[in-house]
Amino acid sequence: MIEKLKDFIDEVQQFTADTKEKAEELRLKFLSRKGILNEIFAEFKNVAPTEKREYGQRINALKQLVEKKINEAQEKFEEQASKPNDLDITLPGPNYSLGSHHPITNVLNEIIEIFSRLGFTVAEGQEIEDDYHNFTALNFAPEHPARDMQDTFFIETNPDILLRTHTSGGQVRVMEKQKPPIRVLVPGRVFRNEAVSARSHCIFHQVEGLYVDKNVSFADLKQTLMYFAKEFYGEKTEIRLRPSYFPFTEPSAEMDVSCSICGGKGCGICKNTGWLEVLGCGMVHPNVLRNCGIDPEVYSGFAFGMGIERTAMLRYGVTDIRMFFENDMKFLSRFKL
Ligand code: PHE
Repeated sequence: MIEKLKDFIDEVQQFTADTKEKAEELRLKFLSRKGILNEIFAEFKNVAPTEKREYGQRINALKQLVEKKINEAQEKFEEQASKPNDLDITLPGPNYSLGSHHPITNVLNEIIEIFSRLGFTVAEGQEIEDDYHNFTALNFAPEHPARDMQDTFFIETNPDILLRTHTSGGQVRVMEKQKPPIRVLVPGRVFRNEAVSARSHCIFHQVEGLYVDKNVSFADLKQTLMYFAKEFYGEKTEIRLRPSYFPFTEPSAEMDVSCSICGGKGCGICKNTGWLEVLGCGMVHPNVLRNCGIDPEVYSGFAFGMGIERTAMLRYGVTDIRMFFENDMKFLSRFKL
């Protein structure tokens, strides 16, 4: 009996499982239900008591040996499978898809870059504002109907706190802290309680510009905006200033640029006028300067504010403002630089 076991051990030791079929053959022969090991176990009861101990040890040795051989073979096959031998290390690596900036960020960065060449720096205002900075300091009288120009989100429990309706409050915060000369841009998100449609949204972005110094005139404003328009919309761009009204500027104007799509001839985008309205601007109202501790007899300034979404829609030909807020990967991947 023990001799038979020794023979099996020799047999397994010499066995090389170089194919999957051979390894399976070994498993079936020894480990399956009708395999040799079960057979040998069954014979255990017929073994002479003096030999039982050695017999048992050898059965275990045989079992472990068979399992070891099969495991080794298994590992070898798995390793071979994960290392195909036709690997061509000269092939280019896989293409990783890189992310990109949001189109609003791209436009904002470009605007900041253009104005930084004229010495403008960037200040952050705050999205949650108080009534004073969003309205009162900007010369909105308490019951002035102009407060209704912008549908404000107030905090229910405290009507003094609101979501800013424009970045102009940032002007006030800068002037409170800084003495002229001031040349600053305030970019950021603003909020208005408006119905969401393809053309308007309750959240959008603006960038505010403010320049305060001695002898700043309307001519400086016009020249600065013309420089911006030509840099941003193209060398051939013309600008047009139309009289307008804002409580915090006097005189106030709205700026149009010649339509960059049709070159001013008239098209669907400019509604056949040849002009596109892009920003509001004006000379900082003396009351606003005074509210911020700046003497309007000594200093004057100009301010402007433009909507980024509108600018980005023109730049990229986007026809639905909602696309900027939906994080649709198909839309966003169009703006890879
Ligand atoms: N705050 C104005 C708006 O939201 C734009 C503006 C800014 C106008 C600065 C004049 C000066 O429409």
